Order: sequence, then structure tokens, then C-alpha cells
Amino acid sequence: MRPSPALQAISESAVQSHEADEKHGDAMNWDELEFGVIPTDYMYIMKCSNGDNFSQGHLAPYGKIELSPFSGILNYGQGVLEGLKAIRTKDGRVQLFRPQENALRMKMSAERLCMPSPSTHQFLDALKQTVLANKRWVPPEGKGALYIRPLLIGSGPVLGLGPAPEYTFLIFATPVGNYHKRGSTMNLYIENEVRRATPGGTGGVKSITNYSPVFEVVTKARAKGFTDVLFLDAATGKNIEEVSSCNIFFVKDNVILTPRTSGTVLPGVTRKSIIEIARDRNYMVEERDVPLEDVLAADEVFCTGTAVEVTAVASITHQDKRIEYRTGEETVFHKLRVVLKEIQTGVVEDKMGWTVLID
Ligand code: COI
Repeated sequence: MRPSPALQAISESAVQSHEADEKHGDAMNWDELEFGVIPTDYMYIMKCSNGDNFSQGHLAPYGKIELSPFSGILNYGQGVLEGLKAIRTKDGRVQLFRPQENALRMKMSAERLCMPSPSTHQFLDALKQTVLANKRWVPPEGKGALYIRPLLIGSGPVLGLGPAPEYTFLIFATPVGNYHKRGSTMNLYIENEVRRATPGGTGGVKSITNYSPVFEVVTKARAKGFTDVLFLDAATGKNIEEVSSCNIFFVKDNVILTPRTSGTVLPGVTRKSIIEIARDRNYMVEERDVPLEDVLAADEVFCTGTAVEVTAVASITHQDKRIEYRTGEETVFHKLRVVLKEIQTGVVEDKMGWTVLID
């Protein structure tokens, strides 16, 4: 993952000039981190015309970007995103978790939205440059992470319906704490009317347009005291699919169940990792349709995602019925979560080859 000499020269000069006049990050109170926007020092930018490949990107001081009012992203939502974290290890180094998976998913999402995407090498090189340039914003071990947001947008102007003439790939980052403000468990509400994803739609890729359609129901559920909303499949309204921001798992008699990813459920990197860890430890994992009956019968429930990490679900409410689940240190969920955390923070040897040390 060495940056090209040209990119490295640009990055290093940008970093040096910015370091001279920015000191506020060093005074952070890491104990009060939330999942919000704290501007950091640098972002990465790379552009290309439609029909071309991305070639040369660079670091720039973090700041606003200029867009045509006619840009594809503003008018027709032509954009895809990714999310991953840079984590401080026990010995103070900084590592990424399975960043190749994000590069591949961005490529898949971009293809679905008719956009060119950076190569895996370009994606990883850009990530590394962005994290190194913002290294002082990576929280100390155990205090949170540097959340990294790769974004690919149709930035060129377009009026007739179709792909934009120019694309911009950006990476920016912010230090984050827990995704959900209150506590370490979630209380979910099953939504009966609004559907998150439809067969043949974009639910299985990370399109920007997947997210705002759920704001209304999530806002209403939060006002009633729920942490988040669990969505049912659009075709039958009988099967569980995913939570607004994460995948979901159910445990019954030590068997682990999760909705299959067949186009309407996002193939999450944390989801995939938990499945691999569980199978490696001889748990039976079933990826299949998960009807409401399995929700009622489960012993444990947990959610996975980059932002939420691996979080226990304490209850699910469906219509007027509230079902409570086992939480705590004796659960299957907890054992899997500990293994993942230990790999991510470098406490145990990474036999899976998942982590990428960048510092
Ligand atoms: C992530 O977990 O990184 C996501 O992209 C979810 C986002 C809604 C915060």
C-alpha cells in the first residue's frame, strides 16, 4: 500500500503546511466522543470524466467542496458511500479492518449506479494517505475510532436523466464514539408500513439514496424511546431484513440466524466477519429468510455494522408486543464480539489476515 512518489510528495507538503497552523485536535476530550461531525485536517480528492478511469488524486485541507447545482448527485442522487474505521491498537499503532472489502463493495455499488470507481489499489492508497494525514484524530485505544467516509459522487452537471459527465471520489474522516447515545444495548421497533428496500432496487449496495427514505420512521420511533427501526421485506412483509444502519442476527439454541443478502440486504463487512468468526468456532450459522416467528422465538439478538460495531438488542417491539432478549457476558453474542474486538485492537494475533497496519 505504498503511495506513488507523486502522491506522497503532494501529501507530505500538504500535511506539513497544515500542521503548522492547526493545534486544536490535540486538546480533544476523548471521553466525550459521540457519533458526530468533528472536522479533521485533511481529505482526499480524485476526479475523473465519465468513460475514463480515475488516475491521480491528492490530499487537500478538509473543507467545503464546490458543486454545480446541476450535478448528478444533487439532482438524481447518483452517489455511493462507504464507512470504515481506523482503530488505535493496544500498543498505540493504527490499523484498518478489512479495507479491501470496502473497496470491492464501492466498486459493486458504483457499477449498479453506472459510475466509474477507483481501483482497489487507488482506494487503499487514498485511505492510507487520509488516515496518516489525520493520525492525531485517531482516538486512544478504547476511546473510539476514526470513522472514515469514502464517497463517490456524480459531480458533473446533467439535466436529461442519465449518468453525470464527471465523478469525484472523496475520503474524509472524523473521530467517533458510540453510534447510539444511550447505553450499550438497542431497543428496536418493527416498522409495518415503510419498506427500506425493494427486490431489484438498490438495498444490496451502498447507494446514498438508501438512507434518507427511512429518516421519517426512525425519527418517530426515537421520539417514542426506541433506539432504531427494524425493516421487513417489501415482497411479503413477513421476513426481517435489516435495521436502518446495520445488519441483524438472531441466536436460538446456539444456532445463529441472519437474513440472507440477496439484493435487499446490505452485505456488511462486520456481518461477514461475525459469520466467519462464528463458523470458525463451530457455531452453525444460517443465512436465510428470517420470518417474524424466529424473532419471537430467539434467545439473543444483536446488530452488526461499522458504525454500531456489534451491539446487543435488549428488546424488539412488534405492534403492541415487546419481546425481551438475553444480554450480558454469558451470551453467544458477547463471545463473538470479544473475538472481533480483540482482532481489531491487535490484542490477539490476526490469523485471518483482516487487519492492515498503516503506522
Ligand atoms: C456504517 O456503519 O458505516 C454505515 O455506513 C451506516 C451509516 C448509516 C452510519
